[in-house]
Order: sequence, then structure tokens, then C-alpha cells
Amino acid sequence: MVLCTVILAVLAAYAIAKIYFKLTTGWCKSQTCLVGKTALITGANTGIGYETALDFAKRGARVILACRSKSKAEEARSRIISETGNENIVVKIVDMASFDSVRAFAREINESERRLDILVNNAGIISYGDRTSKDGLPLLIQTNHFSGFLLTHLLLDLLKKSAPSRIVNVSSLAAAFATKFDVNQVEKHISNGDDYNNSKLCNVYFTQELAKKLKGTGVTVYSLHPGVIKTDIINTMDGIRKIGFTLMMNFMSKNPEEGAQTTIYCSVAKGIEELSGEHFADCKRIKPYKTALNEGAAKKLWEKSERIVKL
Ligand SMILES: NC(=O)c1ccc[n+]([C@@H]2O[C@H](COP(=O)([O-])OP(=O)(O)OC[C@H]3O[C@@H](n4cnc5c(N)ncnc54)[C@H](OP(=O)(O)O)[C@@H]3O)[C@@H](O)[C@H]2O)c1
Repeated sequence: MVLCTVILAVLAAYAIAKIYFKLTTGWCKSQTCLVGKTALITGANTGIGYETALDFAKRGARVILACRSKSKAEEARSRIISETGNENIVVKIVDMASFDSVRAFAREINESERRLDILVNNAGIISYGDRTSKDGLPLLIQTNHFSGFLLTHLLLDLLKKSAPSRIVNVSSLAAAFATKFDVNQVEKHISNGDDYNNSKLCNVYFTQELAKKLKGTGVTVYSLHPGVIKTDIINTMDGIRKIGFTLMMNFMSKNPEEGAQTTIYCSVAKGIEELSGEHFADCKRIKPYKTALNEGAAKKLWEKSERIVKL
């Protein structure tokens, strides 16, 4: 009897959570056509990045899938072409855990592409513990922040040439929990949870500072929280955290198509140019997180990032 009650309560909570998330998910209703435009998405072979690429392909864009695995990217390309009929889908290889790879990739894009209208910095991991990249940085902060910072800089001229153009940085509500953020320690491993929160706050600060520097260029920039989405990102975690997150994702998550809506909105919605530098969720601008209100930290992070990526 008690067991039945518990099972019923869990099922009811599950159903309520699912209904809540279905009702509150924001959908991008913009009909913007992307024929003649080029969009580049990092980490586009799966999850939010894949759904974003699929949407851009449906809108007629030339879509560059910037991925680290050729086989996974080619498979995603085939699926997008067969679903949309858009054959203008290109695979390019980049490892966001290596500055050399990011530089080589940007060089190739600058040489081969005539324009770039949308850059989506989406690739990300949630953990991998204290693993270090070959550049000597924690894998997480390099993948989630420094490489996106470098890539954006290396593609800025092309974006400016293609203006009006947009940069979209996929951050997370996790940024709101980065209460221990210290710009002086940002390139150091603290703990798996803190590292992820800090990296996602870096995405927000980068967006704020970049928006200031791009004023008047016709290039606008946005950060966003996509929601909680059940994706492969969970596989970059381990231990008890993975179990906790798996449970949370089963209860509270959107599907990847729903999770891509705010990225798509920030990339294509008309009339949000004035909101450059702001943070979005569920296809709406939201109030900045308290952790993201330190202009001084944003500026310091910018300067530190320039030094670390050797701009
Ligand atoms: N899922 C959520 O609940 C959630 C919530 C808030 C924010 N986000 C953010 O959303 C973004 C996308 O995450 P997702 O949930 O869609 O995860 P996902 O399904 O795991 O996709 C992540 C993508 O990033 C790629 N990637 C990881 N490391 C890379 C590297 N070194 N070089 C190049 N590509 C790399 C992955 O490639 P492989 O397939 O080769 O690994 C994959 O294509 C991330 O920035 C994440 O922080 C997600």
C-alpha cells in the first residue's frame, strides 16, 4: 500500500513536471528566411547544436557544422540533408580543447567563406574532472570559454563584413550559481560543479563586454540559458553528480528541439538588435543573474582571456 502511494506520488510529480515544462517552454516563432546567409555552429553534431543547425538548414542557410568528430559530424550532415533537402551543409573539424585547432579552423573559415552571418558558440562539456588540455588549462574552462573567446575574435572581421550579423553564446542558468567566481582564479580547477558554473558565467561576461566593443558595427551578441535538456552532455560527468543530474534531466528536462529554441530566437528574431549584450531564456530577455552584475569582472576577464589565448 505504502509502495503504491509512493509510486503514484512519483508518477504524479513526473507528470506535473512534464506539463509545467511543456507549458513554459518558449518557442521561436520567427519566420526569418536564411537563404543567402551562412551560419556556423560549434558542437553541431548532437543535442542543442544539432537542432539549431537543423532549424537553420530548414530556413535555407549555408550551415557549417563545426565539430571535433568527423564521423559524427558527417552523420549529422546526412541527417540534416535528408530531413531538409538543403545540401548546403558543410562539415569542418575543430577541437575546442586546443588553441592550435581553433586557430587552424578559423584560418580555414576565413579563407573559404565569403560571409558569416551567425556564429553560435555552443560546444560545451559539463565535467571531465581535473583533466588538463595540451595548452595546460583545465579542459572545461578552455572548451566552454577560452576557445569560444578566441574563435569569435578570429572570425570578427568576417562577421563585421557580413553585418548585420550575430554572435550567440550558449551559457546556462548555472552562471547564477557561480557565487565563488574569482576572475584571478578562473583558469584554475576548483571543483567540477564550480568550474562549470564559472565557465558559464564567463559566457555571460564575454557577451556583455563584446556587446560594448561591437557597438555601431552591426554585429550584435547575446547569451542564453537553453533550459535543462536531456542530451549527451551528461556523459561528460561521472559519479554521484551524474546520477543526480540524470534524475533531474528525466524529471525536469526539455527535449533538444525545445532546448534549441532560445538559441534560434537569438540568432534569427527580428528587432532584438537593441538588446545586444543581454541574457535570454525561453525566447525572452531575462534579468541578469546577480553574479553577472560586476562590470569590473567582465572587463578583467576580457583582458585575462586575451592574454591566455595570446591575441
Ligand atoms: N543540456 C543542458 O541541460 C544544458 C543546460 C544549460 C546549458 N547547456 C549548454 O548547451 C551547450 C550544448 O550542450 P548540449 O546539452 O547540447 O550537449 P551535447 O549534446 O553533449 O553537445 C555538446 C556538443 O559540444 C561538442 N564538444 C564538446 N567538446 C568539444 C570540443 N573539445 N571540441 C569541439 N566540440 C566539442 C560535442 O561534441 P561530441 O559529440 O564529439 O562530444 C557536442 O557536439 C553547452 O554549451 C552546454 O553548456 C546545456
